[in-house]
Amino acid sequence: MYNGLLHLHNFLRWIIIIFLLITIIQAFMKNAAVKKTSLWLVITAHLTLLLGLYQYFVGNFGYKLIQTNGFAAVMKDSAMRFWAVEHISGMIIAIILITVARSKSKKSAYSTTGLLCLLALIIILAVVPWPFREGIARPWFPGI
Ligand code: HEM
Ligand code: HEM
Repeated sequence: MYNGLLHLHNFLRWIIIIFLLITIIQAFMKNAAVKKTSLWLVITAHLTLLLGLYQYFVGNFGYKLIQTNGFAAVMKDSAMRFWAVEHISGMIIAIILITVARSKSKKSAYSTTGLLCLLALIIILAVVPWPFREGIARPWFPGI
């Protein structure tokens, strides 16, 4: 079951990135459709967060790294630091920005919505374990 949920977590990245791009374009075009897109964005982001928290506390690439190795050793190793600290904190910040952007879109604050989502996109791109990232590489698509 863990692997199936991990595959879902991997796949949802693409949905989030696509919804973020649409939200950013609609927000900067002051298109009221952004109110709907931002809702789908929040739903997928929160679902990914929930799956991520489960993985972090149940799997081998989260809290267990700190439990087994100690925090100091984790911080000195770039791969362990990525999983135990950088991925979770970067993603939680990005998801908070997405949630605030959604509430701004409901109030028709289009520019703020666009800027917050742009910031979230940059953070997400920086802390995804892309296949070209040494030591932490994960597949482009679930299982591939
Ligand atoms: C760790 C789990 C989760 C946390 C901590 C969390 C937290 C939050 C927070 C803080 C809000 C903002 C409430 C507000 O507008 O004041 C929110 C809204 C929302 N969340 Fe989550 N959530 C989680 C999981 C989920 C899941 C699994 C889903 C659905 C798949 C979901 C769907 C939504 C929706 C639809 C909204 C309302 C968006 C809106 O209409 O503005 N959340 N959540
Ligand atoms: C926008 C939000 C997020 C995106 C786009 C994202 C993306 C990814 C991707 C692409 C992977 C690799 C999956 C694979 O190996 O097939 C991954 C793994 C992982 N993510 Fe996330 N993630 C997000 C949020 C989170 C959050 C909030 C947490 C923690 C609370 C989290 C915890 C993890 C963990 C622990 C793994 C590794 C699990 C394992 O290999 O056992 N993720 N994430």
